[in-house]
Amino acid sequence: MAASSSIQLLTPALAIFILTLLKLCTSTRASAGICYKSIISFGDSIADTGNLLRLCPSNHPPHFSLPPYGESFFHRPTGRFSNGRLVIDFFAESFGLPLIPPYLAGEDARGRDFRQGVNFAVAGATALDSSFFRERGVRNPLTNVSLGTQLRWFKDVMPSFCSNSSDCREFLRTSLVLMGEIGGNDYNHALVQGIKIDQIKSFVPAVVSEISSAIEEVIKLGAVTLIVPGNFPIGCSAVYLTYFQGSNQQDYDKATGCINWLNDFSKYHNRLLQKELNRIRKLHPHATIIYADYYNAAMRLYRSPNKYGFRGGALKACCGGGGPYNYNSSVECGYPPATSCDDPSLYVCWDGLHLTEAAYQLIAGGLLQGPFSTPPMNTICALASTSSGLLLQD
Ligand SMILES: *[C@@H]1O[C@H](CO)[C@@H](O)[C@H](O)[C@H]1NC(C)=O
Ligand SMILES: *[C@@H]1O[C@H](CO)[C@@H](O)[C@H](O)[C@H]1NC(C)=O
Ligand SMILES: *[C@@H]1O[C@H](CO)[C@@H](O)[C@H](O)[C@H]1NC(C)=O
Repeated sequence: MAASSSIQLLTPALAIFILTLLKLCTSTRASAGICYKSIISFGDSIADTGNLLRLCPSNHPPHFSLPPYGESFFHRPTGRFSNGRLVIDFFAESFGLPLIPPYLAGEDARGRDFRQGVNFAVAGATALDSSFFRERGVRNPLTNVSLGTQLRWFKDVMPSFCSNSSDCREFLRTSLVLMGEIGGNDYNHALVQGIKIDQIKSFVPAVVSEISSAIEEVIKLGAVTLIVPGNFPIGCSAVYLTYFQGSNQQDYDKATGCINWLNDFSKYHNRLLQKELNRIRKLHPHATIIYADYYNAAMRLYRSPNKYGFRGGALKACCGGGGPYNYNSSVECGYPPATSCDDPSLYVCWDGLHLTEAAYQLIAGGLLQGPFSTPPMNTICALASTSSGLLLQD
């Protein structure tokens, strides 16, 4: 019926899109090696490749340690909050690096070390210290790890990949630092615990200032290329669409079905973050601080799901416990009676809050090749080599 004819109409456009993406990916790969020797990552579940998993007590396996997490690419759960790869994995692939191991996995006996990258991101982590939230009566059900904790881990492990301060500066100069996404949980936990948005809005300057201090700290240690992602359009996530279900009709964006005031809140955080990035760019002109516009890179998927092949709908989770958005906070993906869709690549939303590999791949492509990074990431390799006066050796 209508569905099959629209599939036929879409197929050529989709095929051209995929071909273009493939071509772009191969051309990045060809020039890979010379870009970055490693990726150092800080953040939360958007980038966690297995840290929270290693912090969880083993007596009750956490839901994300069970299938169908990881089913589509790794064919087993890895601690990633998706069915497959995350944005950071697509970054690593496009720079010709191995996937970035989680810090808490340790440097293993097979000789796999952190010299080509290390990931400190922990799902549930906040930018601000856990004491900030404790004082305000906000619980973090997942972890007390903050951005400050992750920076301490980083400084602890530094001696394993460099031997003195000039050696460490050289190591960091040739690394790409991914600073986030971080900050989303500073608001998420409070929002689902019933704290009013006006009070949460008052956290934003402190969150942005914490991210900014972390950036300055790694620059001080020698980093010169940083990617700083903003927050996602949280008003489009199944968690919030369910939690605030039955809001006034005028709260919803008619074109997407997302909740406007939540998206406005993400935009507010992103505005303050970009303003702060402009300020610190002036203080550190030798460094390249790239703003990654996760908001708009994701928003186009919600605006035109069909164009990108998301025929399961943009707002409904692939894996969850039922209801209009297939999300129920007491039925987590991984444990019955939650069920999972047959084909996650038809969905933007994986488990309510996190996205599918298909969505993350499009977002990564939009950052690496498209208009969603400022300055554009595909011009940065050249910048890195001219600012140092050298081409980085592979
Ligand atoms: C975080 O939690 C761990 C384990 O429960 C505890 O050992 C540690 O002291 C806590 N850290 C902070 C900063 O609260
Ligand atoms: C720092 O370490 C590097 C690499 O091990 C070495 O080549 C260099 O001589 C050291 N520099 C100083 C000042 O110790
Ligand atoms: C969520 O799941 C629980 C447990 O299965 C169920 O009792 C409850 O009714 C569900 N909530 C909604 C809104 O469907």
